Amino acid sequence: MPTRPLTRLPGMTAPTVFVLSGPNLNRLGTREPEVYGSDTLDDVHAAVQREARDLGLVADCRQTNHEGELIDWLHEAVDVGADVVLNPGAFTHYSYAVRDACAIVTTSGRSLVEVHLSNPAAREEFRHTSVVAGVATGTVAGFGLQSYLLALRALV
Ligand code: DQA
Repeated sequence: MPTRPLTRLPGMTAPTVFVLSGPNLNRLGTREPEVYGSDTLDDVHAAVQREARDLGLVADCRQTNHEGELIDWLHEAVDVGADVVLNPGAFTHYSYAVRDACAIVTTSGRSLVEVHLSNPAAREEFRHTSVVAGVATGTVAGFGLQSYLLALRALV
């Protein structure tokens, strides 16, 4: 399996990856720092951009607090042929609509990596269920900001 940097032929455009974060993740840095650490979402996105560049990818980083907007972005990923790194936030645990949109991504032949900063399996009972995991290509959880970077690496 190739590691960084990917060799690309001149003129080849770098593949785009959508890096999507769901509700409350815009509050990283001040939101429960004992659980999520002190990195802000801007820090996460800056690290993702650096890693993506090293891997020969273009990262399109977005965050929303709105389920419908997240679903629209998952549809857009299919339409433009982008793989997806997704932290669904609390939607992970109950949103069948987000799950169905993730299934549209993976059944279209794109990869979708579910990521979590924390390890939901080691937290409250309601976080032990992911309705997304069963339709994701894979999951990375528990490594803080590194979870996003490991997910990018998994895609190459
Ligand atoms: C989270 C874990 C979820 O349980 C929680 O609702 C979040 C963040 C994580 O990144 O660890 O909002 O997805």
